[in-house]
Amino acid sequence: MIGIIGALSEEVDLVCERLIDQTTIEKANYLFHKGKLGEKEVIIVKCDVGKVNAAICTQILIDMFKCERIIFGGVAGALLMNLNQGDVVISSHAVQFDIDLTAFGRRHGELTDKDRLTPADPDLINAATIGFDEMAENMSEPPALMVGTIVSGDSFVSNPDTIKWLQREFGAACTEMEGGAVGFTCHINKIPFVIIRVISDSAGDGAVEQFDTFLSKTSQMLCDLLSRTVSHL
Ligand code: ADE
Repeated sequence: MIGIIGALSEEVDLVCERLIDQTTIEKANYLFHKGKLGEKEVIIVKCDVGKVNAAICTQILIDMFKCERIIFGGVAGALLMNLNQGDVVISSHAVQFDIDLTAFGRRHGELTDKDRLTPADPDLINAATIGFDEMAENMSEPPALMVGTIVSGDSFVSNPDTIKWLQREFGAACTEMEGGAVGFTCHINKIPFVIIRVISDSAGDGAVEQFDTFLSKTSQMLCDLLSRTVSHL
């Protein structure tokens, strides 16, 4: 079973519409939609915003629905000048940037693990990049793809100083609010994961307006990326 998570309706609704033989199960106020996406058995959930929601849904997918792989799809704010709206970032690693035990001599984002960056699964990264390439082939102006570190925290970033810090501290490509929690939960359960993010905004001045105008435009692309990724597993 493959688990698919998104935070917002715009990020999951279209994929849900593609499910064949769909059944819906409610658990802890979240709706889990089970069915076939192409040839593969999947279960899709909208977790809502933030790391706690993402961690709870990830653990439910693992415990209750026996998911063996988890894919998160959504939008993110760019942390690099050359990433524009519509470009895609696939996680090489994920980290919770707002974990701060620096008072105890740890680095930002570092919990008990030695390595603060959680590696995404190579096979899932590979499936996602193949899926991206297929999608890009059919586009007249294809977006850019970057495989890189994705940072997550419980705040919407709209500040140039924060961008600079996140980029320099973590070597990150984009910022969002769930991936690090999905990565951490998968890591401690030994479940492979990948995060796929479409850039919605610059994470700086004007990020909120950019996010608001872009979100609905990205649904189709996310649906395409997620479906193609699953088809290569
Ligand atoms: N998701 C999309 N854009 C974001 C941003 N700028 N900060 C946090 N999460 C985001």
